[in-house]
Amino acid sequence: MSKTVQIIDPQTGKQTDLPLREPTLGAPAIEIAKLPRELGYWTYDPGFGATASCQSDITYIDGDKGILLYRGYPIDQLAEKSNFMEVAYLLLYGDLPSQREFECFDREVRQHTMVHEAVRYFLEGFHYDAHPMAMLMGVVGSLAGFYHDSLDMFNPADRNLSAIRMIAKMPTIAALAYRRSIGWPAVYPKNSLDFSERLLDMMFSVPSEPYEINPVAAKALNLLFILHADHEQNASTSTVRLVGSTGANPYACVAAGIGALWGPAHGGANEAVLKMLDEIGHVDRVPEFIARAKDKDDPFRLMGFGHRVYKNYDPRAAIIRSMCHEVLNDLGIDDPMLDLAMELERIALEDEYFIERKLYPNVDFYSGIIYKALNIPVNMFTVMFTIARTAGWVAHWLEQHETPDARIGRPRQVYTGHDTRDYVPMDQR
Ligand code: ACO
Repeated sequence: MSKTVQIIDPQTGKQTDLPLREPTLGAPAIEIAKLPRELGYWTYDPGFGATASCQSDITYIDGDKGILLYRGYPIDQLAEKSNFMEVAYLLLYGDLPSQREFECFDREVRQHTMVHEAVRYFLEGFHYDAHPMAMLMGVVGSLAGFYHDSLDMFNPADRNLSAIRMIAKMPTIAALAYRRSIGWPAVYPKNSLDFSERLLDMMFSVPSEPYEINPVAAKALNLLFILHADHEQNASTSTVRLVGSTGANPYACVAAGIGALWGPAHGGANEAVLKMLDEIGHVDRVPEFIARAKDKDDPFRLMGFGHRVYKNYDPRAAIIRSMCHEVLNDLGIDDPMLDLAMELERIALEDEYFIERKLYPNVDFYSGIIYKALNIPVNMFTVMFTIARTAGWVAHWLEQHETPDARIGRPRQVYTGHDTRDYVPMDQR
């Protein structure tokens, strides 16, 4: 017999048995759908801190233990042994690919890296100093206009093609947006290169001289993309799913996800970390900024610190932290910003305020320093995150369309406005 939880309303004495939804890992969820009907209450959970919005087989996080699994595989193993294309396959289709499956998938992605020439002209329409996230959001939304022949969301082949296109084209669009912002000519994707190399080539090569891809940079990007590929029902993925629940096309869903990721409380934090480190400027000023972060009257927060789910340590941050030293070493870069970041981390981790609230460095604390070492401009940091997270977004979007009991996402509210009142004509107000 399936387990239930009994809820008794002490006001009315009414009671109801609510079914428990059992997970493979983690805490079960109380199914509350019949609560309003049976007891007459909504549930109130701003920020969805206690709400499971869906059932998913893709990613598991244990925030207390600092565990992150993609389809059951620990993130540290994937970071060490896999590559971004293989991880994308794993997220989309549920299992690690065989050699043949990998080759087919990788070939398919490579075949879809080009964008319509009109996309370049579309980008020309943006002001030269437009934020690349604005360009990315606009262009990705516009892709639906190029592929109306394959937007039948009831057709699995169309859905799969849309997912592949999105993963393949995102780096091309990102690089075009970057080059538009610095006035460089477009570079077409070279499909002989692998995913990270291709992106580096599209961003940094110039027609006037040969460009040699730095293997350290390609390896670092590959790792960052693996770590950022998915993170269960975070704000942007939940946005993709919410838009997806309306039956909207995948390009509209992902464009909305890009908008959510852009926010400084989410993916925009990597950009905010660098700006913050720039503002702090010197290790001597770290205590002043720590004090500001603790001051409730000051809106300043330590960017790259804290996480809604991880209350121990962000396992991605631990991997990035050691990679950060390795990359700077290999590239022969002595960045005082890294010393500053380490001092900030050291002081914060010893401070009662941060200990009490379980505030640890998150994935974005170190990623910005690596991007900076790779010559990626600060306003492209969240774009890099977007390229990686696209794999997770489309995996969730595909899963959502394969869920039989999927419904449109439509939360309720606790209304605190006026009671009913009569309209008063303007001359009598
Ligand atoms: N600096 C200082 N204080 C903080 C910070 C911080 N970075 N983060 C949380 N706190 C404090 C809050 O003021 C609050 O204190 P209180 O209990 O005295 O009121 C307490 O810690 C809990 O914070 P909440 O805001 O309730 O935590 P929530 O889970 O809602 O927020 C978030 C998580 C948004 C990540 C938050 O920690 C934050 O703003 N961090 C900085 C931005 C950042 O790095 N975002 C990236 C997240 S990772 C990602 O998206 C990939």
